[in-house]
Amino acid sequence: MENLRYENSVLKVLDQRLLPNTEKWIEIKNKEDAFEAISTLAVRGAPAIGIFAAYSMALFADPKNPEKVKEYLDASRPTAVNLSWATTRMVNAAKDGKNLIEEAKAIESEDREMCCKISEYGLSLLKDGDGILTHCNAGELATSRYGTGLGPLLLGKEKGYNFHVFSDETRPLLQGARLTSYELQKAGVDVTLICDNMASLVMKKGLIQAVLVGCDRVAMNGDAANKIGTSGVAILAKYYNIPFYVLGPTSTIDRNCATGEDIVIEERNGNEIKSLYFEKPTALAETKCFNPAFDVTDHSLITAIITDRGIVRAPYDVNLKKLFSEE
Ligand code: MRU
Repeated sequence: MENLRYENSVLKVLDQRLLPNTEKWIEIKNKEDAFEAISTLAVRGAPAIGIFAAYSMALFADPKNPEKVKEYLDASRPTAVNLSWATTRMVNAAKDGKNLIEEAKAIESEDREMCCKISEYGLSLLKDGDGILTHCNAGELATSRYGTGLGPLLLGKEKGYNFHVFSDETRPLLQGARLTSYELQKAGVDVTLICDNMASLVMKKGLIQAVLVGCDRVAMNGDAANKIGTSGVAILAKYYNIPFYVLGPTSTIDRNCATGEDIVIEERNGNEIKSLYFEKPTALAETKCFNPAFDVTDHSLITAIITDRGIVRAPYDVNLKKLFSEE
């Protein structure tokens, strides 16, 4: 499932704000359109934001002064490291005199390869018939191919596995309902939508053999920033003795970040909680809302971090470093 198209010098994204009811492509004509597409979640998901920002830099940054547009786009969403990772790479490419569209294409195709490897590693940990819980959307809409958290499920489907997936709806922006159930259903994967507060019940009933989630920034001690609510799912998984897997490309591991304490959590407008997907507001206009977009799952709750370079287990502070030992 495509989320981005670059053809004849025109950049378009599938407007994920309108899914699953409307499939509409919007053209990105300038850096302001690019900023708005990221900040309002027309394009979202950590790797997809990075790829999109790379194309936006190629089209809208001055190769002689690329930092200006980099800084502008980096401010559109703070938590997913893939954004600044990709824009930094584009700045370096500009300094080296490289063709910036070719560099953006390389970032996209490398992500595709990484997602394929993550999906293979993840699938090796699952059994045919397993029940899987996932939170938010870490599929093709959030990446370039297969996804991270959903990657093993989509690859598994192609290989004849039958998984039973429970998708948390993921309040408040409903990526699980609007995107994950849509994506899995289109791929023919058995998926059942639940409200976030039902995860404990399906675990208690023995319907879940593993939890798979994507991630937005992984610190070097293994703490992982994921969609808000994920850390609660991890606590439940620990209680019910269910493996909790975090899946992400090495571009999501932040070598400048020692622990989850260093991760900046995006805070969004509280109206998303009380009005966005309702016919009428669910609370008074003056009711205060707290709307963090991500939370940090403590490394002690994570069974393994599945990357394109292999499956990493505790002690994360030792084993994550090894992923980069040959660079
Ligand atoms: O706010 P979003 O929709 O961009 O949040 C996305 C997630 O949290 C994803 O699960 C994460 O970026 C991993 S994407 C492969």
